[in-house]
Amino acid sequence: MRKIIIAGNWKMYKTQAQSLEFLQVFKSKIDEAEGNREIVLCVPFTTLGLLSKTLHGGIIRLGAQNIHWEDEGAYTGEISGPMLKEIGVNYVIVGHSERRQYFGESDQTVNMRLRAAQKFGLVPILCVGESKQQRDAGQTEELIINQLKLALPGVDQSRLVIAYEPIWAIGTGETCAASEANRVIKLIRSGLSNPEVPIQYGGSVKPDNIDEIMQQSEIDGALVGGASLDPVSFARIVNYLA
Ligand code: 13P
Repeated sequence: MRKIIIAGNWKMYKTQAQSLEFLQVFKSKIDEAEGNREIVLCVPFTTLGLLSKTLHGGIIRLGAQNIHWEDEGAYTGEISGPMLKEIGVNYVIVGHSERRQYFGESDQTVNMRLRAAQKFGLVPILCVGESKQQRDAGQTEELIINQLKLALPGVDQSRLVIAYEPIWAIGTGETCAASEANRVIKLIRSGLSNPEVPIQYGGSVKPDNIDEIMQQSEIDGALVGGASLDPVSFARIVNYLA
């Protein structure tokens, strides 16, 4: 059975103090009985150490938002696998469209970061997805298959999560129809050597659409941006009705 993973991507939001305020409310609202759902918070680097201590022994897992491919070196501003592993990080987002768009992330560096994450025992969450222009031009399938082809060489598919995040649905309130996300995710799965890889949907996931998204047969979770910043709304997403 494929694992269900609901992850919040906090992007560049929340100080340490704000993170603790979030947790106080969030922990009181999540339904711990739903044991088959993994909950992950992907927070800024500055908050990882604090949350690692705070979450220790609980059900919430910790994720980072980037990882460098080298173990160490003269790479100002970057963070390595051993640094993340030491503080108890479990997951790391790799290849988010914002990193591809604003920070020159390429398919090649995505591949190097994925392999580095696995080398240090972290599970990478690989993001793929098309722009509005690519969708309108009918290139969605080709683009995604190509992103996977370039990202996955040398990557162990038994320790991998994929997030399908159509760029036009990120932060726009324009959600991809659940059935369409299901169709693209099925296509992604058909291109994998391990069909058990959990594949999430991301892009304007909210309390009012999570139930329909999670009812789709191919969708194994969500990668949530804006709605993961509010503890009540993220708790409702985590507690989705199957
Ligand atoms: P939103 O949920 O704010 O659309 O962001 C999605 C995302 O980019 C998660 O990685």
